[in-house]
Amino acid sequence: MDTTRISKKLNEILNDQVTKEANAAQIYLSYGAWAETKGYAGTADFQFRHADEERNHMMKVLKYILARGSKPKITALAAPPKDPKNLEECFEKIFKHEVDNTTAIYNIATAALEEKDYATWNFTQWFVREQIEEETMVMALLDRLRIAGGTNASHEALQYFDAKMGQKNDEAVLSREATTENP
Ligand code: FEO
Repeated sequence: MDTTRISKKLNEILNDQVTKEANAAQIYLSYGAWAETKGYAGTADFQFRHADEERNHMMKVLKYILARGSKPKITALAAPPKDPKNLEECFEKIFKHEVDNTTAIYNIATAALEEKDYATWNFTQWFVREQIEEETMVMALLDRLRIAGGTNASHEALQYFDAKMGQKNDEAVLSREATTENP
């Protein structure tokens, strides 16, 4: 008896989302490593904590696939993008990445609605809310960088920005204690 409670199509796009979230963790790790080598230790700390958060997102989707009686497929990851030129470009790239991720979440929600799979649609709503938070957070960081002078920001302004990043609560401040239910 087949007890799978999710369609093949939804299984596939949820699997893709597992990979996307894992790739997102790689992107944050890569940018964190770049930031640290440029002397932006606070920004690096923020990026590393956020990489943990992305992995928690990955686990949340992976566990949902399992909960619906299917088997997640773990695939190879993409190479992270090349290093940014400066902090502003770094966060612009992150913003674009988060918007792309929002589109991917919307696509899952749309497919779930089309199939009348209300369980999966309900599951996606946590991610819809999460993406609002993530986009708003990066927008605010970009605003702060622009106010600091953007690519013409002084070393002092960037130092101040970086120090604040190290203290920033991005919800992943307790990432070591985070669970799949509460990433
Ligand atoms: Fe998992 Fe940054 O979204």
